[in-house]
Amino acid sequence: MDMDEIVCSCLNITNGMIRDAVKSGAKTLEEVQEITGAGTVCGACLDDVKRLIEEFNAE
Ligand code: FES
Repeated sequence: MDMDEIVCSCLNITNGMIRDAVKSGAKTLEEVQEITGAGTVCGACLDDVKRLIEEFNAE
């Protein structure tokens, strides 16, 4: 996976930023949103953000 790829284009949040949030202890969408804001604007990226959180939690 490309960690520099943007998953949330509203806020320029990359895969790597979601990963960092999960690795710093955020387990849920809500917790990741508190740190990154991903998915809090238009919501179009929510499915992708959720999938990434699951994937990084499983690492
Ligand atoms: S693309 Fe993530 S909130 Fe719009």
